[in-house]
Amino acid sequence: MNAPFSPSTLDRLRSDLAASPRMLFIDGKFVAAASGETFEVIDPATGQVFAHAAGGDKADVDLAVAAARRALDGAWGKHTPSQRARLMLKLADLIEAAGEELALLESLDNGMPIMMARFGGVMGAAEQLRYNAGWATKITGETIDPSWPGEYHAFTLREPVGVVGSIVPWNFPFVMAVAKIAPALAAGCTVVLKPAEQTPLSAVKLGELIAAAGFPDGTVNIVTGFGKTAGAALVDHPGVDKISFTGSTTTGRSILHAATGNLKRVTLELGGKSPVVIFADADLEKAIPSAAMGIFGNAGQVCAAGSRLFVHESIFDQVVEGVSRRAASLKVGAGITPGTEMGPLVSQVQLDRVLGYIASGASEGATVGVGGARIEGEGYGGYFVQPTVLTGTAAGMKVVEEEIFGPVLCAMKFGDGDIDTIAASANQSDYGLAASLWTRDMSSGLKLAKRLKAGTIRINGGGAGVDPAMPLGGFKQSGWGRENGRMGVEAYTEVKSVTIAL
Ligand code: NAI
Ligand code: MG
Repeated sequence: MNAPFSPSTLDRLRSDLAASPRMLFIDGKFVAAASGETFEVIDPATGQVFAHAAGGDKADVDLAVAAARRALDGAWGKHTPSQRARLMLKLADLIEAAGEELALLESLDNGMPIMMARFGGVMGAAEQLRYNAGWATKITGETIDPSWPGEYHAFTLREPVGVVGSIVPWNFPFVMAVAKIAPALAAGCTVVLKPAEQTPLSAVKLGELIAAAGFPDGTVNIVTGFGKTAGAALVDHPGVDKISFTGSTTTGRSILHAATGNLKRVTLELGGKSPVVIFADADLEKAIPSAAMGIFGNAGQVCAAGSRLFVHESIFDQVVEGVSRRAASLKVGAGITPGTEMGPLVSQVQLDRVLGYIASGASEGATVGVGGARIEGEGYGGYFVQPTVLTGTAAGMKVVEEEIFGPVLCAMKFGDGDIDTIAASANQSDYGLAASLWTRDMSSGLKLAKRLKAGTIRINGGGAGVDPAMPLGGFKQSGWGRENGRMGVEAYTEVKSVTIAL
């Protein structure tokens, strides 16, 4: 791959998007919302509307859930595991083949740099399907020897949980959508997917590719629309057996309440306030750029962003200076501009929110070392904010406690305390999604790793990306359950015990 995209593809895409609204994908067909509603899709680099999408609502969710149920009880339910795997592999190939268009859609809609959309988004999605396709033929029960008097043959079956409602956020729209449907399909479930209202476009394209791959009608349905309408209708629906949600902790909590109706299964992948700990003996040539991109990557709109930096006092100034230099030199621009390293925030709401946090930090006594302001002017009509480093931050400040979800780093120092003291500071959060640490002393590194309350620990830059084989999820208020790996697929199954008296 040379240039990330050809200008003619971009032109064609733009005129196609301007010409007609994107539709819902229900029962294998593209349809308008029952209400006829559409909503505006905004390019966050310009703040301008460049497409419209169908505003799905309860009526559409009802149709989608009914289609998913028919597919589960019908054609999809009759597919053997190997047939399911083959369709998933085919979809992976189609996604790769459509990589240029998908990456453009993602970059225009979300604002992320085109290379991130191509590799993290499109290729990451294809790998999710390939990894999970392998599980389709490897989901098994067990045989068990019960201790009741008499003689028995007893075993367990793992069956698909049923119709799954998948609700995804806007920060990595495409790969998250695919990462939700892949394990569900491997397990034999059917899906109603609700993309985020800020970024509906790549999901609609996914619908086209699903149809082209030959999945039976209704296996995957895609309802674009708002959280309070389409999302809430899905969560409330008595015909949905499981909700898999990625997004904010606040919405996650409301989903738990709403799911009590039919006690549908719920897995939640929520927010974070992840610590990065740099010991005095760390390899700073690696740690500094990694700490910088761990918070500035995707403009900080990453659930596992390293937003609290803890540095040993002997190297604190050096690290903060290095991260700040990187922040100041970062090429900020539209995602589709070649060479852009950081795009805009996704929306005006997020821009206001991030600027509000920066102001709150300053008012609580933090120092804005670098950044701190909106970027405006020619080429910056959208929601751009400077990569920002706050020093003089401390536990208890809002900027240290709450998920900002923007390119804002809070830097703090630690002294020669023991591992327990460092762990206590890093663990001082309601969240527990991820943590990074840097040291050449693996004994200290592992001791800290064992003490950190987080679902993912990265030592010396390990595991910077998401691997579909590695379980992902949160301690504390960062979520319920794990995605990816064997656990991720098993989360889409129900276990049934069967006993035969011999
Ligand atoms: P959100 O959690 O409300 O949105 C995520 C998804 O949930 C979207 O598809 C939305 O339509 C849907 N949704 C919203 N309300 C719903 C409801 N009542 N029932 C069912 N579905 C619903 O996140 P939002 O408001 O876009 O962002 C606010 C903050 O949330 C961000 O600033 C960030 O801190 C956090 N966030 C964290 C994410 C993460 O991956 N950790 C992802 C997105 C947001
Ligand atoms: Mg958008």
